[in-house]
Amino acid sequence: MKEVLTNPTDGYYINNNVFGKNGDFITSPEISQLFAEMTGVWLVNEWQKIGSPKPFQILEFGPGRGTLIDDILRVFKKLKLPMDQINIKLVEVSPKLCEIQEKNLCGSSSAPVLASICYKQNTTRHGSQIGWYRQLKDVPKKFSIFLAHEFFDALPVHKFVKNEKGWREILVDFDREGDQFRFVVSRSSTPALKIYSKFLPASSPKEAEISPQSILIARDIARRIHEEGGIALITDYGHDGTKGDTFRGFRNHQLHDPLVDPGTADLTVDVDFSLIKKAVSEETDTSVLVYGPITQARFLSGLGIEQRLQRLLQNSSAEVSKDLISGYRMLTERDQMGERFKLLAFFPKVLQDHLTKFPPVSFT
Ligand SMILES: C[S@@+](CC[C@H](N)C(=O)[O-])C[C@H]1O[C@@H](n2cnc3c(N)ncnc32)[C@H](O)[C@@H]1O
Repeated sequence: MKEVLTNPTDGYYINNNVFGKNGDFITSPEISQLFAEMTGVWLVNEWQKIGSPKPFQILEFGPGRGTLIDDILRVFKKLKLPMDQINIKLVEVSPKLCEIQEKNLCGSSSAPVLASICYKQNTTRHGSQIGWYRQLKDVPKKFSIFLAHEFFDALPVHKFVKNEKGWREILVDFDREGDQFRFVVSRSSTPALKIYSKFLPASSPKEAEISPQSILIARDIARRIHEEGGIALITDYGHDGTKGDTFRGFRNHQLHDPLVDPGTADLTVDVDFSLIKKAVSEETDTSVLVYGPITQARFLSGLGIEQRLQRLLQNSSAEVSKDLISGYRMLTERDQMGERFKLLAFFPKVLQDHLTKFPPVSFT
C-alpha cells in the first residue's frame, strides 16, 4: 500500500491529480465550502477559548488540492485573526499535489529547494507564511493546530485474520503463473504479528487492519500537543474497532480490486479510531484529552451548518443554490457522508478542568 501510493517515482499520489469529476474520488472540502467554513469556525472558537495563543501554526497532513486550508484561512481573515502571525505547514509527499496546493493557496509558484527539509516556501493570498514538508518530524515544534482530513485512510496497514491456529498475517503473493497478485494467509507467525498483536481485538471481529504509521503519527501529534500545546482535528471515514476488512481500491469513483494494476487506483481503508485512541492513551507521560469520534452530521449541525446554508441561499442564484443544497445533503445525510465520516479531537491534558466547564463544540 505504501509503495503503490507514495513510491517516489511511480506512486499513485506522486504524479496524479486524483480529485474531482475527472479523478478517482471527491472529498468534503471539494464538495462544499460549508465544510471548511464550519471547521474554521470550530477552530477559532476552540483557539479563543484557550486564550488565543499567538503566533501559532496550522499543520495540515495531506492537504490534497489545498481547498480546506484555503477556506479556513478565508474564515480566519473574515473573523479578523492576525494572518501574519499564523504559519501554515503542510506535510505532503506528492510534488504534483504540492504544485496544485501552491497555485491555489498562493496564486504563484516558487522554486522548490529539494535538499531542504522545508522543500517549498511562499506566502498565501491571505497573508500567512506557508512551507511544505515531507514528514511530521521535519516540522518545527510549536503551538499547533493539527488537521488531518482523509489522511489516515491513506496510510498503509497490515492485515490479520484469526483462524484455527490463532491470529495470522495476510500477505500478498503471486499466483502460480506469476502474473497476478493474490492474498495468502501466512502459515506461521510474522514479525508484524509479533509486534502488533497487542492491538488485535480480543474476541471479535476476526479480521483486523493495523496501521503502524497511524499509531506513530497519532503519538507524535499527542507528544507535540503535550509539550508545546495545540489542538488536533482528525476527520475521516472510519469505525470504532468494529470492522476488520475494509482495504479497497477506487478508480473513477468506482470500487476497484486493489491487487489489479497497482498504481492506477487509490488504495484506502476505513480508519480504526479505537486504534488511534488506544495508541495515544498508552503514552502515559504525554497523554492528551481525546474527544470523539463523533459523526460528521453531528459536528456540522452543532456548528450551525443549517443556519449558514440558509444565509448563503438568500444571496445565491438558482444554480448556486442547487449546488449548495446538494453539497449540504451529501455532507450531512445519514446514508451519504453524515454518518460514515467521523471526527476525533485532541487537546492538552492541562485543559481538563477548563474543557469540563466549556467542552469542545459539538463533541458533547
Ligand atoms: C485522500 S487525499 C486527501 C486530501 C485532502 N485532505 C482532502 O480531504 O481533500 C490524501 C492526501 O494525503 C497525501 N499523502 C498520502 N500519503 C501521505 C504520506 N505518507 N505523507 C504525507 N502525505 C501523504 C496525498 O498526497 C494527498 O494529498
